[in-house]
Amino acid sequence: MLDAGCGNGWFSARAADMGFEVEGVDFSAEAIDTARRTIGSKVQWHVSELREFRPGRRYAIVMCIDVLFHVVDDELWEESVRNLASLSAVGGHLLIQEQLTEQRIPIGDHSRTHVRWRVKQDYLDVLPAWRLAEHHKYALPAQRVEKDILLFARSAKNSQSA
Ligand SMILES: C[S@@+](CC[C@H](N)C(=O)[O-])C[C@H]1O[C@@H](n2cnc3c(N)ncnc32)[C@H](O)[C@@H]1O
Repeated sequence: MLDAGCGNGWFSARAADMGFEVEGVDFSAEAIDTARRTIGSKVQWHVSELREFRPGRRYAIVMCIDVLFHVVDDELWEESVRNLASLSAVGGHLLIQEQLTEQRIPIGDHSRTHVRWRVKQDYLDVLPAWRLAEHHKYALPAQRVEKDILLFARSAKNSQSA
């Protein structure tokens, strides 16, 4: 599986401990250095922008946790989502953790927060041929936030797209 935007690799390490073969990618060389030092070689690490990552293979699971709302630029975000989707194997899944909003917020309002809140339809628009297998919403009361998990399934039918 691929942990896209893995940061210091907390989730990568948990997944490796569960028996998954894991690769982690992040554009922060510093974060990947920390991951290498603290977690080591049970995960294969890469430094790359998500939109440019070309590992030469596909993964049964591509997970992207709390990353894409930090990608404020819409074009970069769209290319990143498309590239991650293209890295999922046929029969595989793309799992995205987001904090979705109910309504689109104008771009100007994102400048103060350095995050870009998106709606579910933004993802459906970028991945029209993909099946949204599950949308799970859950609350983190301590942080006073709600998170969304979008699980997209890649079938043979949509293997040519994205
Ligand atoms: C909030 S952290 C989440 C880290 C990890 N997924 C976790 O949940 O512990 C967001 C991470 O996304 C990475 N990131 C943001 N934009 C990125 C991009 N365009 N390409 C690659 N990594 C990116 C950041 O460097 C950071 O490590």
